[in-house]
Amino acid sequence: MDFWEWYDRNFLAAKQHDVPIYELDWLVLRLTDLDKLDLRLRSPSISQKITSETLANLDQLWQKRLIDRIPVQYLSGSVTWRDLELRVSTAVLIPRPETELIIDIIVDFVNNNSQDEIYKNGIWADLGSGSGAIAIALAQHFLNIKSQAQIHAVDYSEAALELAKINANKNHQQVYFHQGSWFEPLAKLNLQNQIAGIVSNPPYIPSIEVLNLQPEVTNHEPHLALDGGDDGLDAIRELVNTAPQYLLSGGFWIVELMAGQAEIVRSLLQANGNYTNIKIHQDYAEIDRFVSANRK
Ligand SMILES: C[S@@+](CC[C@H](N)C(=O)[O-])C[C@H]1O[C@@H](n2cnc3c(N)ncnc32)[C@H](O)[C@@H]1O
Repeated sequence: MDFWEWYDRNFLAAKQHDVPIYELDWLVLRLTDLDKLDLRLRSPSISQKITSETLANLDQLWQKRLIDRIPVQYLSGSVTWRDLELRVSTAVLIPRPETELIIDIIVDFVNNNSQDEIYKNGIWADLGSGSGAIAIALAQHFLNIKSQAQIHAVDYSEAALELAKINANKNHQQVYFHQGSWFEPLAKLNLQNQIAGIVSNPPYIPSIEVLNLQPEVTNHEPHLALDGGDDGLDAIRELVNTAPQYLLSGGFWIVELMAGQAEIVRSLLQANGNYTNIKIHQDYAEIDRFVSANRK
C-alpha cells in the first residue's frame, strides 16, 4: 500500500475511534525520517521514503493505538517533556505537560531567593520520580546556572528507577536514584534537617476513580503512579507530615495535585504547624494544580 493511501485511511479511522488525529502525525514523525513539512505538503515522493517494513511497523502500532487504546508515547517509547527527550514504558507515568510548570515555579522561587545559597547549592529531593522527568529537569537547571545543588530521586518501583537512570544518562544529568517508599531512602542517608527542597508529583487520584479514567490511563498507566487511596490524599498526607523532619528551616515544599484538592492541602499544611508562605499555583488550564510552602 502507498503511504498516503495508508495515511488517509487511518486519518478517517482516528476520527471513527475517537482518537485525536494529531496523534497519527505524532507517531509517523517519531518513527520515520519525515518532518512536519513533508506531511503538510503531502508530497507524493514521500511514499518512496517509507519502506514497506516501516509502513507495516507503523500500521501495527497504530492499530494498537486504535483498538487497544495504548497511548502513542508508550508505542513509540518516547516523549519530549520541556526540552528533555525521555524514554517511557508502561513502568512509568507518561510525564504530563502541566507538570512542566512545577519546574518553572521552583526556578522562580530559587531566582527570587538567589541571595540564599541553601536553595542554589543545597540538596533537593524528587519523591515519586517515575521517568525521572522532574529530577532531571531540576538537575539540568542547576547545572545551567553552575550551582552545586545535589538532586536525589526516590521511587518505589524498581522498573521506574531503571528507566529514570537511563533518562538521566541520556540527558547528561547527574541524579542520585534510590528505591524505597517516600522518605525511607532519605532516612537511610541521614538527611534529616538537611534538604533545601522537596518536590513531588505523587499518586493523587481516589482509588475508585482510577478504575474509571480513560482506557489509555486505566488500562495502561501504572496504578502505583495514579492511586492515592480512598480520598486520593494518602501520599500527600505523608508528604505534608514527614517533610518537616527533612527540610532545613526555610526549605521549599511543592506538590502537584488534582482539581479540588488544593484547599484541602492548604488546610493540611496549616494544621501541621511547621509551614509558612503557603501558596496555590494554577496550571495552563487555570486549575489549582500545585501547592507550595516553606518550612518555618
Ligand atoms: C504521578 S507519578 C509521577 C511520576 C513523575 N514524577 C512525573 O511527574 O511524571 C507518581 C510516582 O510515585 C511513585 N510512587 C508510588 N508510591 C510510592 C511510594 N510509596 N514511594 C515512592 N514512590 C512511590 C510511582 O511509582 C510513580 O512513579
